[in-house]
Amino acid sequence: MKNFLKVVIFSVLVVVFYTLFANKYIPSIKPSPPPAEAKLDLGAMTMEQFIHLGDEIFHGKGTCELCHNPVGGRAPLLDQVGKTAEERLKDPRYKGKAKTGEEYILESMKEPSTFVVAGFGVKGTNDTQSPMPVVTSGAIGLKDFEVDAVIAYFQNKAGVNVTVELPKEAPSAGAEETAHVMVPAKTPEEVVTKYGCGACHKIAGQQGALGPDLTKIGAKKNKEYLRRAVINPGAEIAAGFPPGMMPPDFGAKMLAGELEMLVDYLAKSK
Ligand code: HEC
Ligand code: HEC
Repeated sequence: MKNFLKVVIFSVLVVVFYTLFANKYIPSIKPSPPPAEAKLDLGAMTMEQFIHLGDEIFHGKGTCELCHNPVGGRAPLLDQVGKTAEERLKDPRYKGKAKTGEEYILESMKEPSTFVVAGFGVKGTNDTQSPMPVVTSGAIGLKDFEVDAVIAYFQNKAGVNVTVELPKEAPSAGAEETAHVMVPAKTPEEVVTKYGCGACHKIAGQQGALGPDLTKIGAKKNKEYLRRAVINPGAEIAAGFPPGMMPPDFGAKMLAGELEMLVDYLAKSK
């Protein structure tokens, strides 16, 4: 009887929890809410959400994965950089200003040529010039809190203490516009940008070349195939391309409304 009561109480709690939070945190099968309701409140973020934001930026708007991926070999992998950053400071070639791992990662993003990982410099510069773009200005233009979120993501991934602080309040200018990483995309093109598909695919005006060209994919594949290709890329591998390269976690990250918009869009690309 006691156990039965426990089960009942637990079930009620689960239902209450999902009613309160499910729409917020779990990809919903209902149409996505209008963006205004989903404003990112920087002042009220948990560290977990902040790390998740960094994850989204790394794989999406930051374009980091375009180079930092296990296949192309164009840039060092960053899975452990949260930890290895401190070792860079002891390298005799290191001449920068950073004193901590956090500062080193920050410097790598703001001034990539301050220290160039051996073998990855622009050809002919003897590792004095980095091919990595400055990601805090120009086309990528990450804001301070976005850079911090990426650092938190790296530190968490490497299993070291997260040393960056949570943003205290929403910086007024531009915060909403950049907060789109957490806000449902409104058009298929926005979905493509938000999840960084164009880093690898030719799609929606973007010119990625690591994966198949998707501009005419609808002529060959139906919606069912396309949906599966996005949320479960391992299920079938496009001929002539390496397996394991397309990120496997879009299914967990993408909102249901975004996925359907994307699949419709791909199916119509003929
Ligand atoms: C165009 C390719 C390219 C893009 C895009 C790019 N990087 Fe890099 N990155 C590199 C290369 C190449 C290196 C190695 C040379 C160097 O040290 O600068 C590097 C080095 C780094 C390092 C230092 C790694 C180490 O082991 O010391 C960090 C940290 C880093 N990148 C973070 C990022 C982040 C975060 C983003 C996205 C916001 C990003 N990069 C986008 C090419 C890129
Ligand atoms: C890091 C690179 C990368 C990113 C980012 C990426 N993909 Fe892919 N994708 C691939 C590769 C490589 C393949 C081919 C191998 C395979 O089928 O898994 C592929 C395959 C596909 C296919 C199947 C194509 C065919 O001809 O059968 C579709 C559809 C697709 N991707 C859609 C997307 C969408 C939509 C996004 C963004 C939400 C995306 N991909 C992001 C690398 C990527």
